[in-house]
Amino acid sequence: MHKGASLPLPPADALSASAALCAHIGQAIDEAGGWLGFDRYMALALYAPGLGYYSGGAAKFGRDARDGSDFITAPELSPFFARTLARQFAPLLAQGLGQVLEFGAGTGRLAADLLLALEQEGQLPERYAIVELSGELRARQQATLAARAPHLAPRVSWLDTLPGHFEGIVVGNEVLDAMPVRLFARSHGRWLERGVIRQEADAGAGETAPAFAFADRPLAAGALPEALHAVAGDHDIVTETHAEAEGFMRAVGSMLARGAAFLIDYGFPAAEYYHPQRVGGTLMCHYRHHAHPDPFLYPGLQDITAHVNFSGIAHAAADAGLTVAGFASQARFLMNAGITELLMALDPNDTRSFLPAANAVQKLLSEAEMGELFKVIALTRGLDAALPLAGFARGDRSHAL
Ligand SMILES: C[S@@+](CC[C@H](N)C(=O)[O-])C[C@H]1O[C@@H](n2cnc3c(N)ncnc32)[C@H](O)[C@@H]1O
Repeated sequence: MHKGASLPLPPADALSASAALCAHIGQAIDEAGGWLGFDRYMALALYAPGLGYYSGGAAKFGRDARDGSDFITAPELSPFFARTLARQFAPLLAQGLGQVLEFGAGTGRLAADLLLALEQEGQLPERYAIVELSGELRARQQATLAARAPHLAPRVSWLDTLPGHFEGIVVGNEVLDAMPVRLFARSHGRWLERGVIRQEADAGAGETAPAFAFADRPLAAGALPEALHAVAGDHDIVTETHAEAEGFMRAVGSMLARGAAFLIDYGFPAAEYYHPQRVGGTLMCHYRHHAHPDPFLYPGLQDITAHVNFSGIAHAAADAGLTVAGFASQARFLMNAGITELLMALDPNDTRSFLPAANAVQKLLSEAEMGELFKVIALTRGLDAALPLAGFARGDRSHAL
């Protein structure tokens, strides 16, 4: 039985949208001669206009599978995430950086809560710009801002392309992990690229039979990406490379004339990412709050992600002339930036509001949840070196990148 059979079945309209996306991806495979690089598959599955997971109608963000959602992110989990970021951003805005630019703003919660918190800090940015690939999410962001921060919503605008020159703060939470990756497999000491082919329907498998399968093909001489030269040993391994995320970082770096970029995501430095014991890679899919490794389950109805290689991001940023100002676990960063003080400002005797807030903050900080796997990297240009970033005051791991 296909493993999708043990997960909740999508409603009929979602299944037909997935079938339309499969037809579109199938055509792309045919046009490419029968084999498509995994990065192209992932790009179509997530972003094909109107049909991809992020560009289509899936619920995506939410607390549990009952609302049809697939995962929860830090800004959705607790407003203390945004409020703590605001404490880090306020002194930067005070250095004359009047704008914030957010990539991939999800439901708009981070934008709304950051603006509200910066207002409280007395450091409202003149302008809050959002770059969002998905029209569906852009509409949700507008609705969230109108509901949660209507008086601040006029400061928010949506950009279709990156500005050539930007002075301000850039922020992106869980954006890098949503960028397409290439897959590579080393088998018997030989590297192959792992791509996607059509799979003939198996009459017995019913509606949950996947339309696609993995297929490995040899690499041309000299075509092995540089990051994989560092994979020690000759044991069998499957792993990813992140050209798209690194290209994105270079583009952000050349845009950022003065300011700081904060990227928050799950991942590791290269030495840990390509550690000989991590033999299965980090590709992961999220469907109705189940994490599983099958990217061919319900294309367009589930998220597909890979962890971030933060060394690659740091090197791409350095190529563009940025400085790595800090790299720390999410727990360290949030604690350094004052999340505990913010929580302690609540009345602990008011258990109805204090306990849920404390539980959510605990999830952001706990090693077993988001505290250690998630990292924060900050990349800067032209900032006052005498004012180091508070979020990295203790536990900075930039040396590991
Ligand atoms: C996992 S969601 C995170 C959403 C939100 N930041 C949050 O934390 O809830 C990933 C988001 O990244 C966006 N995204 C991916 N690549 C992007 C790019 N190159 N530019 C802007 N947004 C991008 C997706 O459209 C989606 O909104």
